[in-house]
Amino acid sequence: MPSSIIISGGAGYIGSHAAYALQASGYLPVIIDNLATGNEWATSFGVFERGDIGDADFVRAVCEKHQPIAAMHFAAFIEVGESVHNPAKYFDNNRDKASRFFKTLNNCDVKKVVFSSTAAVYGEAAEVGAISEFFPTKPINPYGQSKLEAEAFLRMLDSNGMRSVTLRYFNVAGAAPANAQIGEAHIPETHLIPRLVLPLIGTPPDILDALGLKNGFTIYGDDYPTPDGTAVRDYIHVMDLVDAHIRALDYLLHDGETDIFNLGSGKGFSVNEIIDATRIVLERPGFAPGRAARREGDPATLIASNRKAAKILGWKPARTLHDIIDDAAAWHKSPHYTAAIRAKLGKA
Ligand SMILES: NC(=O)c1ccc[n+]([C@@H]2O[C@H](COP(=O)([O-])OP(=O)(O)OC[C@H]3O[C@@H](n4cnc5c(N)ncnc54)[C@H](O)[C@@H]3O)[C@@H](O)[C@H]2O)c1
Repeated sequence: MPSSIIISGGAGYIGSHAAYALQASGYLPVIIDNLATGNEWATSFGVFERGDIGDADFVRAVCEKHQPIAAMHFAAFIEVGESVHNPAKYFDNNRDKASRFFKTLNNCDVKKVVFSSTAAVYGEAAEVGAISEFFPTKPINPYGQSKLEAEAFLRMLDSNGMRSVTLRYFNVAGAAPANAQIGEAHIPETHLIPRLVLPLIGTPPDILDALGLKNGFTIYGDDYPTPDGTAVRDYIHVMDLVDAHIRALDYLLHDGETDIFNLGSGKGFSVNEIIDATRIVLERPGFAPGRAARREGDPATLIASNRKAAKILGWKPARTLHDIIDDAAAWHKSPHYTAAIRAKLGKA
């Protein structure tokens, strides 16, 4: 019998890729998701238990049924802009429900947790170079703050014997190999690479319209204190990211101590540089983006130092920016993506 691993948020973008990778590594993924933003079609790896992470009775019943040896916690709301306008929604889900979930797991004797956190906990720290785990945490939006407070609660449970790895991701993009039929399908889609790629690959107009991309891609802010004025980010392929999760799980299952790791490529690319790479990968040299003001809560620069993850987890990202754009484009061109978005819009 394969060992069970709970994956909260496993119907979402990154959680579904983690389920795919865990199943390929010989585990039984047990997906917990309330489908608030997730997709039932993305839950085909392992078993799916529909419910809320904040519902202790439900989580306890899932633990009794599947006897998991560990959990990966992805479930959260992820929109920075929305968090600025509706912080209560983010603190309720990302901090309060997450804390209840950790407590329930602890009470059920599930004592190993890998937690998805974010570079947003560092705020503007990047101005001084690549961000290591020792950098001060100073979130500049409620999303980052809610994740930071959930991290702190999880680390406190260490004194109850709960060992955890917090993984602070930088910008995640790309998709699993085409036969997995999973990828990013957010509505709204606020992430740069899908927003850039979708209008360039023949996406049906109703979908572009629903995603706010009818007029093509827009650069938000070209007056940042960066070399070309556009925001600089560190992009990491989702399959490299989930590889780090499997390594973190392995580390915990071999008695690793509670710790924090940054996950990024270690390289920063400006929005203009991503646009140039996309022109090459998609063979659209003439593509010209629109321009608009900065979005609230977006720092100028975020680049990871991934040296600690390399040293302790033996992790090294293997895929390039061109792979990320290529794999994202293949997913967004596939009929599965179109069907998924239409289903979400109630147009199936
Ligand atoms: N996407 C990125 O670039 C990125 C970057 C940094 C960190 N992260 C973190 O990674 C995690 C996953 O992000 P994603 O892009 O896959 O998001 P997503 O929205 O695609 O997936 C989140 C999933 O969690 C589920 N969910 C939310 N609240 C829930 C609850 N209370 N109970 C049960 N299920 C619930 C949703 O239905 C959805 O399936 C998040 O914790 C996010 O903070 C993502």
